[in-house]
Amino acid sequence: MNRREFMNWIGTGTLAASLPAAIAACQPDTASVPTDGPAEDTPEAAVEVDSTPRPDGFAAIGTVAELDQAGSVSDKSFQGQQVLVVRDPVDSSALIAVNSLCTHQGCSVDWAAGSFACPCHGSSFNPDGTVASGPATDALGTFEAKVEDDLVLVKIES
Ligand code: FES
Repeated sequence: MNRREFMNWIGTGTLAASLPAAIAACQPDTASVPTDGPAEDTPEAAVEVDSTPRPDGFAAIGTVAELDQAGSVSDKSFQGQQVLVVRDPVDSSALIAVNSLCTHQGCSVDWAAGSFACPCHGSSFNPDGTVASGPATDALGTFEAKVEDDLVLVKIES
C-alpha cells in the first residue's frame, strides 16, 4: 500500500465510523416524545372544543379545566376577534372576556395579579376592561362570557 492508498483508506474509514453518529444527530429527539399514549392524554394538552357558534350566539372557546389550570383561556382568532377570558376576581363564578388587543398600539395584553397588563408600553386595565394606567386611553372591548357544563362560552356580537 502506497501513501495515497493509505490516506484514502484512512479517510474512508473515518467517514464510515462517523456516519452512524451523523445520522443519529439528524434524527428527531425521540426521548422527548411521550411513549405512554397520545399527547391528548397529557394534562397539559389543550382539549379541542367545537367553537361553532350556537343559535344563541355563544361559542366554546375552551374548557373550565383549561381556565382553572392556566388562569385564563385565550384565542387570537376566535370568531374574528382576539379574546382573553378569565374568572372575575370579585366573583369567581363569573367570567370576564375582553378583546386582548391593547387599545394603545395593538399588543396583546396578559392577565396578571387581577388586571390586564400590556407588556409593550406598560398600560394596565381593570378587570372590566377600563384603563387603570396609560399610555392607553381607551378601554378594552368586552364580550359576554359564561360557563355551561364544562365549557367556557363567549358571545361575539356581529
Ligand atoms: S401597545 Fe399596549 S401600552 Fe402600548
